[in-house]
Amino acid sequence: MFWSGFLAFPALAAAVPQGYGGSGSAMLRFGCSQVVIERLDPLVNPGVNPSPHVHQVVGGNAFGASMPEDDISTHSTCTTCSFNQDFSNYWTANLYFKARNGTYKRVPQIPNQAVSGNNGGITVYYTSPGAKQTTAFKPGFRMLTGESTRRNSTGLGKNMQSCFRCYTGPNFEGNVYSPCFDPKLDTEYFPTGPCLGGIRTNIIFPLCWDGKNLDSPNHMDHVAHPTGGPTSFAAVSGTCPSTHPVKIPQVHLEIMWDTTAFNNKAEWPEDGSQPFVLSTGDSTGYGQHADYVFGWKDDTLQQAMDNACFGATCRSLTTQSDSVSGSCAVKNTVAETTEGWLKELPGGGMGA
Ligand SMILES: *[C@@H]1O[C@H](CO)[C@@H](O)[C@H](O)[C@H]1NC(C)=O
Ligand SMILES: *[C@@H]1O[C@H](CO)[C@@H](O)[C@H](O)[C@H]1NC(C)=O
Repeated sequence: MFWSGFLAFPALAAAVPQGYGGSGSAMLRFGCSQVVIERLDPLVNPGVNPSPHVHQVVGGNAFGASMPEDDISTHSTCTTCSFNQDFSNYWTANLYFKARNGTYKRVPQIPNQAVSGNNGGITVYYTSPGAKQTTAFKPGFRMLTGESTRRNSTGLGKNMQSCFRCYTGPNFEGNVYSPCFDPKLDTEYFPTGPCLGGIRTNIIFPLCWDGKNLDSPNHMDHVAHPTGGPTSFAAVSGTCPSTHPVKIPQVHLEIMWDTTAFNNKAEWPEDGSQPFVLSTGDSTGYGQHADYVFGWKDDTLQQAMDNACFGATCRSLTTQSDSVSGSCAVKNTVAETTEGWLKELPGGGMGA
């Protein structure tokens, strides 16, 4: 099997969607280090500095308070992603610990499994059920998934598009099921007890596109889920609705939060509730969301999807070392402290 090197990580093998590896299916999985952590959101709040809440951002260095709407791969000169061809930007809310005394501290990020050289950041997946079965995004494409103001369950069960995995010990202990499938360790809300190996966030984007619009006013309406509803990472198939007939690669993000320094229950709220909160002020976790601005060079993503690429290498793509990708950075433009013990969340913890 062509991905045997990837499967050398037994727990990752479990993450492989069923039916993958045959008939030309593709699954890229690669790391992108932090490019900047700051209170900007060029998609939802273009030109606004600072935006309502803090984000952790990876990818190309064209990221900023406002971004060009054309091909951003022509504006970036470097990327924190391991594939040289990916100048996209990906960002999510940050995680903070709220101590019993009411102060907050940003939870550090650690490298994910099999991307050990990364500086925090995001692990990115692109999956396609087979050659020529998905159409890669066009230059200028962007989208948002999740709702920062949501505070209740979507009721999707194993098809939930956002989940938290509570690792039971160091070195990703407890990693058996594919993302969002573990009946015990994966929840749509923040884990209620201490996670001895940290917490992983998974966020999955929709599979279908209207074929016309690169964006929409809420950054969501130009994409849609298959007719049968949102699909899990483990079942990337499904029929696209007539309104959104074009199947796009499934974009899926993973973030590792090192919560282990915050597991002392004497520092948790006295009522026994869990202490973690998103930078939006959300202490439920249901409001986790992610933003994507497509920025692959030319047709390199389409080729990777059609060439059945798997894991962190692909014959039609080239990679850069962790030290090179890790040295790409965007200068912070928001004059505020996001680190150390804070009296309040930066911006006060605003959802939208
Ligand atoms: C609040 O609690 C944290 C965690 O116990 C501690 O490190 C910090 O110094 C405390 N801050 C204040 C102002 O008491
Ligand atoms: C859940 O929250 C959404 C808004 O994010 C709201 O539209 C919906 O009615 C809520 N559902 C329930 C069952 O409360």
